[in-house]
Amino acid sequence: MDEKTFMSQFWNPLVQQLEPYVPGEQPKDQRYIKLNTNECPYPPSPKVLAAIQAELTATLRLYPDPNADSFKEAIAAYYGLERRQIFVGNGSDEVLAHVFHGLFKPNQPILFPDISYSFYPVYANLYQLTVQTIPLAADFSLDFSAYAQPNGGIIFPNPNAPTGSALGLTAIEQLLITNQDSVVVVDEAYVDFGAETVIPLVNKYPNLLVVQTLSKSRSLAGLRAGFAVGHPDLIEGLERVKNSFNSYPLDRLAIVGAAAAMQDQAYFAATCQQIIDTRETVVTQLKQLDFHVLPSAANFVFTRPPAGNAEALYLALKEQGVLVRHFNKPRIREYLRITIGTDAEMQVLLETLQVLLAKKL
Ligand SMILES: Cc1ncc(COP(=O)(O)O)c(C=O)c1O
Repeated sequence: MDEKTFMSQFWNPLVQQLEPYVPGEQPKDQRYIKLNTNECPYPPSPKVLAAIQAELTATLRLYPDPNADSFKEAIAAYYGLERRQIFVGNGSDEVLAHVFHGLFKPNQPILFPDISYSFYPVYANLYQLTVQTIPLAADFSLDFSAYAQPNGGIIFPNPNAPTGSALGLTAIEQLLITNQDSVVVVDEAYVDFGAETVIPLVNKYPNLLVVQTLSKSRSLAGLRAGFAVGHPDLIEGLERVKNSFNSYPLDRLAIVGAAAAMQDQAYFAATCQQIIDTRETVVTQLKQLDFHVLPSAANFVFTRPPAGNAEALYLALKEQGVLVRHFNKPRIREYLRITIGTDAEMQVLLETLQVLLAKKL
């Protein structure tokens, strides 16, 4: 059945007009080199696995800590914060959902870039918010001048997704100085791969909320753990939404695993550095193949093949067992987003691309 046209008489009017987010493929049919959903190619820290093992006991019959305090404490220790400045959720997607639900206002448009994380418009629609997308510049850079207008909230990823471009602290602080009447959310899903976190600014700007995830730089996409950092009043707003929705978004295994991941700084630093090193090599190699590559501070690169035939290349790569991401959307349909895998995986990608280009694909 065509999902797009299917409607049930039992759905309420809101559900009838939802356009759900479509996540990157998680194929089950064959083994792919998976460079399509920005997961980390390295396993989680052994300390995370040990913490989860230790929690696999009879206590699973008991509900977990609804506040996930040990996870919050690990984040607080890592960033030098107080626990009441931290909100945690089942992946940063859930945190973002609560932000749209609880901190963005319906009377003015929510502002975010036209090329950005495609879950933002989905949440806006779910929570009946109006949206105004602000076009990125021709080079895909983010310029805040157009954000100086009445709004119900502002959100953008830094580094941006899917472009990988990062802004510095000064540019973001400038936005915070000019926009004090609504919440500004900086989605730092990829910040650990070469950008600067704005978490130090939360003590200065009560309307700043910073969202991070353990899915990328801490190799825990499968565990589902994310968090937000901000003024205690913002956090309290999120807690009110969360406690009106699901008291236990993080299970016992997720709480101990996520806490251990925040504590193992050495493993985290080594993993991030490895990804950055691989990325820099891949960027050079893609440029040698005449790909246009945007500067990336993330664990992926956004790149235009020499002939601009991104969709054909995506399909041909898939046939060869390499999955990358193609967005069939205005302005970016000539680009591919390629997650940084291991050196060996990236070598296969590069060799496959070489063969395909030689065939004039
Ligand atoms: C910009 C951005 N924010 C948030 C997320 C959500 O991550 P998670 O729900 O795994 O924490 C993603 C995932 O790809 C992302 O790209």
